[in-house]
Amino acid sequence: MNNATNTSGRVALVTGASRGIGAAIGTTLVERGYRVIGLSSSGKAPGGVMALACDVADPVAVDAAFARVEKELGPVEVLVANAGITRDCLLMRMGDEDWSQVLDVNLTGAFNVIRRASRPMVKARFGRIVVISSVVATMGSIGQVNYASTKAGLIGMARSVARELGGRGITCNVIAPGFIATDMTEILDEKMRTEYLAKVPVGRMGEVGDIARAVAFLVDDESGYITGAVLPVDGGMGMGD
Ligand code: NAI
Repeated sequence: MNNATNTSGRVALVTGASRGIGAAIGTTLVERGYRVIGLSSSGKAPGGVMALACDVADPVAVDAAFARVEKELGPVEVLVANAGITRDCLLMRMGDEDWSQVLDVNLTGAFNVIRRASRPMVKARFGRIVVISSVVATMGSIGQVNYASTKAGLIGMARSVARELGGRGITCNVIAPGFIATDMTEILDEKMRTEYLAKVPVGRMGEVGDIARAVAFLVDDESGYITGAVLPVDGGMGMGD
């Protein structure tokens, strides 16, 4: 993996950057010389990251956020679609809202930011897009019919974008994290944690930095021949799926 510091000062926008994986991605990209903007529901972001409150599910809000970034820093050259939510529930009890909220944020939210970022990227003939999916996209997961559907959908989305925009110097890749220690997994009970951990060959939960370093590799200027890839960062949990 390339750990070189990026000195070009490229503009990188990360969604869901207020905490967890997105915050780590923001911090890592700042350390590597990118000018980073973090979108989130709360409008918070770690030090060095320009924070904007924006609901990614709302295309009008996304357009306004991008317009502000373009005015203050220039066009977005690196996009990390990381914002995601869970509304876990067994299929037979899953309500319409549980389904639609997760689709709106995880799938439509990614579509909204990728679509908005694409035109300036095409114009610049350069772009790096990374979408944060999940190991459950291909493994499936009890209680996560809604969530796993969105995470699988993101793979089809990213690969279609990779095919459409590959000729314009734009790459679009997917990272499929496994079981990462964040607020999202903090809510799991002890029994579920033990069950998940038993499925991880490296025998530990992942750390947010594990994902952030993989993102930094894929968005590097020198990673231009990697596109449409689904990179598992899961301690081996999803092998074979
Ligand atoms: P988190 O719950 O700690 O943080 C989620 C972030 O998304 C927050 O910054 C929140 O403000 C933002 N967000 C939520 N809804 C939003 C909206 N409508 N508009 C804008 N921002 C919104 O989650 P975590 O664990 O850091 O996960 C980040 C991504 O990684 C998610 O897409 C998640 O599905 C994925 N992932 C996480 C795994 C884990 O084990 N933690 C495993 C696999 C994938």
